[in-house]
Amino acid sequence: RARPDDGAHRAVVVGAGVAGLQTALVLRRLDPRREVVLLSKAALAESNTRYAQGGIAAVVPDRPDHRPTAGAPEDTVLSHISDTLAAGAGLADPHAVAVLCRGAADGIDALERAGVVFDTSGAARAATGATGAAHSPATEHIGPRPAGVGGTGTHETLARGREAAHSAARILHIGGDATGAGLVDALTAAVRGDEGIRVLEHTFVTRVLLDEAPGSAPRATGVEVLTDEGVRRIGADAVVLATGGAGQLFEHTTNPVISTGDGVALAWRAGAVVADLEFFQFHPTSLDVPGNPLLSEAVRGEGARLVDAEGRAFMTDHHPDGDLAPRDVVARGIAGHLASRTTQAASRPARQPSESSTGPTPRVLLDATALGGAFLARRFPSLTALTARHGFDWSTEPVPVVPAAHYWMGGVRTDPDGRTSVPGLFAVGEAACTGVHGANRLASNSLLEGVVFGARCAAAIAGGGGGDAPRFDAEPVDLDGQAPTQPFTRRDLQVLMSDHAGILRTHDGLDLARKHLSSYRSGPDPENANLLLCARLLVHAAANRSGSCGAHFRADEPDDAPRHPAPRRSYVRATEGA
Ligand code: FAD
Ligand code: SIN
Repeated sequence: RARPDDGAHRAVVVGAGVAGLQTALVLRRLDPRREVVLLSKAALAESNTRYAQGGIAAVVPDRPDHRPTAGAPEDTVLSHISDTLAAGAGLADPHAVAVLCRGAADGIDALERAGVVFDTSGAARAATGATGAAHSPATEHIGPRPAGVGGTGTHETLARGREAAHSAARILHIGGDATGAGLVDALTAAVRGDEGIRVLEHTFVTRVLLDEAPGSAPRATGVEVLTDEGVRRIGADAVVLATGGAGQLFEHTTNPVISTGDGVALAWRAGAVVADLEFFQFHPTSLDVPGNPLLSEAVRGEGARLVDAEGRAFMTDHHPDGDLAPRDVVARGIAGHLASRTTQAASRPARQPSESSTGPTPRVLLDATALGGAFLARRFPSLTALTARHGFDWSTEPVPVVPAAHYWMGGVRTDPDGRTSVPGLFAVGEAACTGVHGANRLASNSLLEGVVFGARCAAAIAGGGGGDAPRFDAEPVDLDGQAPTQPFTRRDLQVLMSDHAGILRTHDGLDLARKHLSSYRSGPDPENANLLLCARLLVHAAANRSGSCGAHFRADEPDDAPRHPAPRRSYVRATEGA
């Protein structure tokens, strides 16, 4: 039995993005006697969350001390629910979606109590001396609440941005386009200020420990970690995986290097059910420069257009909502344009890692020039600086963009309280799969997911671990085939995945990816081992789904309607003993 130390009344939270930070803080508030150990394989402040730009989708009433936005149509939680279900392409779980959208107002409240300050209009306009823009934006001017302003008696309005596939402007943000940094700064300060939260940075979780008592289901009892001092074990009566996504599976990604799918890999090895792994979202607009930094969808929300090399706005060819169509549609529209400069991915052999997919002439550009320099600098200060650093003046010239891997809809299957199929093991945030995103996530629902489900998971743990683990009907899968012989680099894996399991997929391409991946032999790097496992699981799930649905697009079977009148979700778990 692997009971490393007495972890009774201790929770280990693996990951310090919005989901892990929220779980830790709410758990301490609900159960102040409980010790929380918060682990991060990088520095505390480094996560996907830190880089979030557009904001957090939330239908929240303006508080009594806020003035209603003049002329803004009334938004409703029902409309947020319906937009989320529509973007999910028929596969989102309506119950989970309702929990997410209905939880937004409390979630925003909790963030504000923890010290997060959202942009407001009115007072910020006066504070910055802004005088208006050449363009009439969907929201009022954006800026932080100035010191000394706010609270009862002030007349501010929460600023609300617009993003694709939302029927209303409902995206709350911080610093214009630096929402993630604002969240992380406030929440990490709150965590550091709580002496009941033990923070261990640069601590890599390599294994979920299980108590495998004969006759009962294995239960999570802690984690094994790797630090500069070596390997150690931390006992706990609840283990929460809040490890984020796996953008490093692909060649172009908006995600930082930490996004290596560790949570899915840890959960899979612990025997948990994982779900919807074939659905990986590509963001339409990363700047086409090394590192693929994101250019927020909020820029199109304010009126920027996608144009081709001839300056033609082409997205209306693909969807009536044009540039503000759901993300998977826009990413495919761009990929289709870009594919015309290379041969079809599926019909060519695997690229060599040294070959690049970006040619000298970008064909798709984001044209924000109509918004005007003053507005761009004020509404998107970070992006104005970012584009300038790369030699572009986006107020006068369109900038080249390319879709990039952004968010994994699939993950560790949980119920709406974060419980996985393994007792004592929880998952929240991007690492989890509650079903809220279906086959395609609605913009800015991910930060909300971390906030809402982090709080619910904390409540379940505080309430005693949440009882029995939920049962999910899952296909047992044995990934072990012939002994793998081929060493691989991360770049090999990324090139293979991008060419055959990315935005455009085919039966033959997936088959080729599966064969290559099963020949790859993991080396000593635990992140690459996790990426390889995630890649194999993703390709398995993608190969099992014929037809197209949301972010899973089969170029050889583009139309799913006749084949799947009732699309199903895919749940898998490791074959016992495999
Ligand atoms: P993360 O924030 O990724 O945190 C993961 C944590 O887990 C890190 O602390 C990491 O160190 C730790 N970890 C991972 N593996 C291990 C391990 N083995 N051992 C120990 N620790 C580990 N979403 C929105 O809703 N709105 C936006 O505006 C938005 N903009 C985005 C912009 C960019 C550039 C990116 C990349 C994403 C954006 N997203 C946005 C998506 C959103 O930011 C993420 O989905 C969300 O932040 C994920 O939060 P998380 O807490 O689940 O994980
Ligand atoms: C963005 O700002 O475009 C990212 C929003 C998101 O990923 O939800």
